[in-house]
Amino acid sequence: MFSKLTDRDSIDEVIKAMSLEDKARLVIGDSPFRTKKMEQYGIPALVVMDGGTGFNSIQDEQEKAFRAYCKRRSIAGDPVSEDEFISGMECLDTNKLSALAGGKVKAPDLGEMLAARPLTALGCYPPGMFLGATWNPEVIKRCGRALGREANSLGIDILLGTPNVNIHRDPLGGRIFEGYSEDPCLVSSLAPAFVKGIMEGGVVANVKHFAANNQETGRMGINEHISGRTLSEIYLPGFKACVGAGCQTVMSAYNKINGTACAMNKWLLTDVLRDEWGFEGFVMSDWGAAYEEAPAIEAGNDLIMPGPRTSAPLMEAVRNGTLPESALDDAIRNYLKVLLETPAVKGHLTPDDIDPEEGIRAAYDAACEGITLLKNDGVLPLAEGTKVAFYGRHSRETIASGEGSAEVRTSLNTNVYDAASKLTGEGNVTFGEVREDTDVIIVTVSAQGQEFFDRESLAMPEEDRAALDDATAESKRLGIPLIVLLNVSGPIDIAEWEPDASAIVCEFFPGMQGGAAMADILFGKVNPSGKLPLTFPKSYDVTPTHENFGGDGIELTYEEGIYIGYRYYDRHPEAVMYPFGHGLSYTSFDFSDVTALLDGANIDVSVKVTNTGTREGSETVQLYVSAPTGKIDKPDKELKGFAKVRLAAGESETVKISIPVKDLASYDEEAGRWVTESGTYVFKAGTSSVDIKGEAKVQILA
Ligand code: BGC
Repeated sequence: MFSKLTDRDSIDEVIKAMSLEDKARLVIGDSPFRTKKMEQYGIPALVVMDGGTGFNSIQDEQEKAFRAYCKRRSIAGDPVSEDEFISGMECLDTNKLSALAGGKVKAPDLGEMLAARPLTALGCYPPGMFLGATWNPEVIKRCGRALGREANSLGIDILLGTPNVNIHRDPLGGRIFEGYSEDPCLVSSLAPAFVKGIMEGGVVANVKHFAANNQETGRMGINEHISGRTLSEIYLPGFKACVGAGCQTVMSAYNKINGTACAMNKWLLTDVLRDEWGFEGFVMSDWGAAYEEAPAIEAGNDLIMPGPRTSAPLMEAVRNGTLPESALDDAIRNYLKVLLETPAVKGHLTPDDIDPEEGIRAAYDAACEGITLLKNDGVLPLAEGTKVAFYGRHSRETIASGEGSAEVRTSLNTNVYDAASKLTGEGNVTFGEVREDTDVIIVTVSAQGQEFFDRESLAMPEEDRAALDDATAESKRLGIPLIVLLNVSGPIDIAEWEPDASAIVCEFFPGMQGGAAMADILFGKVNPSGKLPLTFPKSYDVTPTHENFGGDGIELTYEEGIYIGYRYYDRHPEAVMYPFGHGLSYTSFDFSDVTALLDGANIDVSVKVTNTGTREGSETVQLYVSAPTGKIDKPDKELKGFAKVRLAAGESETVKISIPVKDLASYDEEAGRWVTESGTYVFKAGTSSVDIKGEAKVQILA
């Protein structure tokens, strides 16, 4: 008689009843996107799939392809055994699967399966960089909730990358569109809202990729040399904040940190994550990131993904005494505690439980909050009836999200061309050509972002460049304004053509409602309020990381330390195209009466914000702190808090932001602890990192 998993109290009984073989098998995935089912112990399989922008139907097909292959192997009398799978990664590649069967059984063709799968109404939510530009936790939480509910109804138990909090270290990073910001305070203030939303949707959230997973070059195992201070202040806070918000799973990253792969890194997974931060969930490896099984389990990586993958090394390690069996028990305990909270145990929602409008509304509201007006000479907003010539392929096909695990194939995407046609009248828009009575030209340019590859430069694709050149030439010929829309994974080269543009609007990758929201912003139905979550540099060669980004593909030193983003650009203002926190509105705001008072463990800052323009709009009070000169070298200023307020024309509101004194500390590498130095701290309220409107000082005695 086996003990069955019923509740938390039963976990130890189940572990006691398990054979070594069962234990070793349970901590390794069963298939591309599922964990092991062990009926004898009442343990269901969990479905773990991406991701943070929506349901990844490619992975769904990969899972199906693998299952169909297993069936074919059984029918052929040659059932799949986990021992054929050495790294687990073979299961993702249908060619490799066919080779494993010696060519006798073919795996289904994934390409054909995908081509046959009809596009359905799956939600595609804005990726992290876009959400970072909203500076609005409420709207982020609503996206998380709608996405969580939808994923739940589709049979998912753990939704991967909810969120991805990797920092925007370098603009060429292939996946920076997935992460929230270059600034740890902004990430830590926004990403936890997504965790909470996902959890409200009833699925388990997953924060990735722990930690400092900032490039695709040498992605499996690049060895990053990073100082303790840089990790503590820049690359870890986003993860800590998500753990604090209740995120129950953490994905260990592919890269190494200071010589040790993240999935095998005891300092990272046990000392920091569990002992220091009090994490009580489980860690799963990124796909194939647990390069060796026993060191991964020993370090605190509880689940090795994907499977099947041989469990022989784990059993061998226990038998020869290099891995204590208690480490396996701990991993299983961590895993089962979370498993009990999943829909696999509690019951899934069904598609009937879902209101598709909830997701569309959340994605639309997020899109309205994150689209960022970078430049406007007054041409925007456009009046209804304006005759518009659109250029650029992405005016008709918005890139809603990037490629790789964040990709979502859906019928729900909108585009600015269609949406604008509805607003200004179909007869008033053209594509790829101007008429003699055209009033304005709008061209969309792009920059792709994807897993597996970093970008080569900040240049836009040639096709987009040609569209921009055509649009510019026509705007000059007719003497009409040019408006450029950026549908980009991050910064692109702007400086050279910027003078030709009357307005520039950045939509990043905006999710399924981006096209609709963009049209509403262009035509003034919505007043833009997005703020850049990262600096746009003038060119790549002025960035703080351009000399070492990528390393040699094997080794890499973060030579710039904590000086990335505005922490660097504050001392190199000539390098900035658009600063961190920048974003315009159709109205104007004034800040006054900035005060800061020490009240116990907090500094209470207040700022009076007045809408001095003629229409309703939102402004974000960004609170930066300059520290006194002391023993520890500090950036000129650092973001410590912010608040976004919506005000009617003429309306004022006093915004209050409370900053814990402990947030003023820096990590003292020598002392190995956080230190707040005594002296005068200056609290600076700005509308961007360079546009500071007022300040107040506070004496801190540490
Ligand atoms: C990616 C992860 C993703 C995982 C599962 C990996 O290749 O790095 O972000 O969650 O695959 O799809």
